[in-house]
This record gives sequence, structure tokens and C-alpha cells, in this order.
Amino acid sequence: MSGPVGTRKVLVTGGGTGIGRAVAERLLREGAQVVLTGRRAHVLEDVAREYPGRAFALPCDLSSPEAREGLLGRAATLLCGLDGWVHSAGQAVHQSPGHIDEAALRSQLEVNLVAPLRLGEQALEVLERGGAMVFVASTLAVRPIVTSAVYSAAKAGLLQVMRVLALAGAPRQVRANAVLPGVVDTEMVRAPRLEPGEAPLSATERAARVAAQLDGLRALHPLGRLGSPGDVAAAVHQLLGASWATGTELVLDGGLLLRE
Ligand SMILES: NC(=O)c1ccc[n+]([C@@H]2O[C@H](COP(=O)([O-])OP(=O)(O)OC[C@H]3O[C@@H](n4cnc5c(N)ncnc54)[C@H](OP(=O)(O)O)[C@@H]3O)[C@@H](O)[C@H]2O)c1
Repeated sequence: MSGPVGTRKVLVTGGGTGIGRAVAERLLREGAQVVLTGRRAHVLEDVAREYPGRAFALPCDLSSPEAREGLLGRAATLLCGLDGWVHSAGQAVHQSPGHIDEAALRSQLEVNLVAPLRLGEQALEVLERGGAMVFVASTLAVRPIVTSAVYSAAKAGLLQVMRVLALAGAPRQVRANAVLPGVVDTEMVRAPRLEPGEAPLSATERAARVAAQLDGLRALHPLGRLGSPGDVAAAVHQLLGASWATGTELVLDGGLLLRE
């Protein structure tokens, strides 16, 4: 199998959609073997079907401590080894202080922060020497907005988890790094953001709201466009194989953080 260590046998969480799917497809095009996980089996199987014998769907609800127990080991068994892990699974629920729903708060903390820490502990045991993990964080980890308290706190915490895992993995040359994307055009940003107490939108209102939302988000980026999942996947692929990079954060944001 070709490619540097870290890019050969890889588990991708959130691998059925958006950035995770682009990462999985990038790795698969380069000849890797990939296990994809997420809750929706059918979206994982859509990818796996395209690469028989090299891509495997392993559905898992990462908010469940029981379900995620031993996940890295199961992926390693499927691939006869594991040298890479990308954590792209995530949830973003935009709510302003005073309107933060308890269930949404718990769920975001679990998937964006607790799951990657627990899976990271597994990765330290399971990844081969010289292997790598890459976490998909966010520019909202360093530049919050009024609706992102929980998401921003979780992603900021994720960066500290990444640094600790980088230190813990170093004796075996196991590396940990993160990417911080600006706004990327995926399902996550195409969910309409409602005002507190706002009634559900009709299909027409929903389409108009999403279009206006995307225009507003696009305007935040000096480069004048949203990121594509492929933009992020290219950087993740590079970090997986970068044998002297550990504990680093790579910002990919079309210049977003240049603006106040
Ligand atoms: N899009 C952006 O603008 C942007 C910017 C910065 C960072 N990010 C980060 O990028 C990552 C990928 O997001 P995306 O933009 O590609 O959006 P996405 O398509 O909505 O991807 C999120 C993925 O997380 C999975 N997921 C959510 N909850 C899960 C759970 N409980 N258990 C297992 N899997 C779960 C989803 O699969 P199931 O629903 O099937 O479980 C889905 O595949 C996230 O960590 C996000 O925070 C996104």
C-alpha cells in the first residue's frame, strides 16, 4: 500500500457527509483503506459501495459511551491495522445565551469534545507507530459568535485535547493535529438559523432564509467564497502524512480570521 504512514488505514468519523466524506473519498482515491462511521448507515454505505473491499461502513452513535467503547479497535480489526484517524463528526446548534436548550448543550459537548477525547485515548493504544490523528475543529474555537457558546467552548476544548494527545503519543511517534475551517458549504451550514420562538418556516421561506444565510456567511470571507469540503480534505490528508507535525493547528478560512 502506498502513501505515508497515517494515510493508509484510516478511520473517519462523520465519514458519510460533508468534510468527513471528502476526507474519506480523498484517502480512497489515493489507495487507502477506510472505515467510515456516523449514525446513518445508508450514507456510510453509499461511500463504501463505491470502493468494494477498501471502504467499510461501521455505524456508531458517538454520543453513547457504550457504543463508542472499543470503536478504534473494531476499525483496526476490519482493516487489519490502523495508522490514521480523522474526527470530523460534529454538531452545531446555534442558540443565544438565555435560549440554550439543555439537550442540545449536552449533545454538542458529547460529540464535539467528550467523544474525541475518549476515542483519542483508544487511538493512543491502537494506532500503529508513526500513525496520526486529525481533529476537525473550527475558527469558532478562537472567534465565537453570539449563538456559538456551547459549540465554541467544545471546539476550544478539543484543541487542548489535541495538544494533550500530541504529547501523550509522541514517545511512539503518534501525532495529533487539528484543522480550523471557516465556513464550509455542507449540510451543517444549510440548516436555517431560527430566531428564539420563531415559527417553523414553509419550504419557500426556508429556501429564501438559507440563501440569505449563505450570502451573509460568504461575505465574512475576504476570499469571497465559502470553503468546499475538498479544500479541508486536502489539508487533512497532508497533516495525516506530515511526519514531523504534531500539536499544530492549521487555519483554513478564506481569510475569515483576518477580519474582526
Ligand atoms: N461546515 C462548516 O462550516 C464547518 C466549519 C468548521 C468546522 N466544521 C466541523 O466540521 C466537521 C464536519 O461537519 P460538516 O460541515 O461536514 O457537516 P455535516 O455534513 O453535518 O457532518 C457532521 C457529521 O457528524 C456526524 N455526527 C453528528 N452527530 C453524530 C453522532 N452522535 N454520532 C456519530 N456521528 C455523528 C454526522 O453523521 P450522522 O448524522 O449520520 O450521525 C455527519 O456525518 C464538524 O466537526 C464541524 O463542527 C464545519
